[in-house]
Amino acid sequence: MVKGLEGIIAAETQISLVDGTKGHLVYRGQWAKDLAVRHTFEESAYLLWHGALPTPLQLAEFKNELARGRRLTPELRSLLEAIPPHTPLMNTLQAAVTALAGNAPAWPPALEQAVQLTALLPTLIAYRRHQLSGTPLSEGADTEEDHAAYYLHLLSGHPASEAQVRALNAYMVLAMEHGLNASTFAARVVASTESDLYSAVGAAIGAMKGPLHGGAPSGVIRLLDSIGTADRAEPVLRAMLERGERLMGFGHRVYKTRDPRAEALREVCAGLAGGDPWLDLARDTEETAIRLLAEYKPGRALYTNVEFYAAAVMRAAAMPTELFTPTFTAARIVGWTTHVLEQAQHNRIYRPQSLYTGNMPASDA
Ligand SMILES: CC(C)(COP(=O)(O)OP(=O)(O)OC[C@H]1O[C@@H](n2cnc3c(N)ncnc32)[C@H](O)[C@@H]1OP(=O)(O)O)[C@@H](O)C(=O)NCCC(=O)NCCS
Repeated sequence: MVKGLEGIIAAETQISLVDGTKGHLVYRGQWAKDLAVRHTFEESAYLLWHGALPTPLQLAEFKNELARGRRLTPELRSLLEAIPPHTPLMNTLQAAVTALAGNAPAWPPALEQAVQLTALLPTLIAYRRHQLSGTPLSEGADTEEDHAAYYLHLLSGHPASEAQVRALNAYMVLAMEHGLNASTFAARVVASTESDLYSAVGAAIGAMKGPLHGGAPSGVIRLLDSIGTADRAEPVLRAMLERGERLMGFGHRVYKTRDPRAEALREVCAGLAGGDPWLDLARDTEETAIRLLAEYKPGRALYTNVEFYAAAVMRAAAMPTELFTPTFTAARIVGWTTHVLEQAQHNRIYRPQSLYTGNMPASDA
């Protein structure tokens, strides 16, 4: 028996490669790092769904399709109004997504359904946020805007800076797909029963909600908060290491070398130097942390993990902490739906065995 199915290969996929030893993350034959630095959320999502980057014409058509899918129907608005305010946002998203199944054919899942859900998630998150805080959803946000820009515009009510958009875009590209993680596996299991795509995504959202998976990088936020300015990085971090504490955002269990997602986000943040104080603080803190970790933990090869830069990007984008996991969800939905579509192509229902360790009846059968 392999607890947690660790190391078990449960699916063949052409979608992505995650190699923790070499520090490789590949989406459909392209380095995810390059996609995050040079391409948009739209282009990367298109690549995952279609297997190739879009031509300019294909991209324009795809962006139109996304723009059309962004509006909330009156039925969805009513549903969101009816959900009690204390219901966690992830459960609210789950309810809204599964309600969309409506009369759509359940099987096979369709790419249009995947695009529709991906287009809608930022609007759902922002609508709910404004609904609960009693503020109006920005009518100024243009549904033609790029995905990351549109999301930030809807949330804050004003257009985001270029630095914020580029940083969030890079994060969303890197968070889009990561092999057969718990939520993606959940989506594939549901799809394997020939259930609909909406139910598969609903299950994935449920898995993503758990702190072991989609948990917010709040430890990193606290660390950066306690540092405040770059000149305080060394004394604060040194004191932590002297006390035997761990520096949040450093070290990784799978990546035994540099986490390619952290590398890519660093590159984007470096390109935005001077564009945002949070990104500058993150970059300066990282340099100091790596140096001090090498001094206090020689030979451990401790590098920056994705949580570190995810926190910096979220902070720079003025994203409230409670929206970290929903934002991760708005990106990962591309990976989930791509896996559901792939599962449907060569489907076989998942049916592992369990090892019975309970008692047997006292009498013979
Ligand atoms: C992520 C993490 C659990 C991976 O742990 P791991 O690969 O199993 O490594 P271990 O926990 O066995 O630690 C190995 C050594 O490095 C040290 N170490 C690991 N990460 C460290 C960190 N972030 N800060 C300081 N020391 C660290 C450990 O104290 C240990 O030192 P020791 O051998 O002197 O006792 C660990 O690096 C960590 O706790 N990081 C901080 C939390 C974090 O950023 N989480 C988000 C992950 S995406």
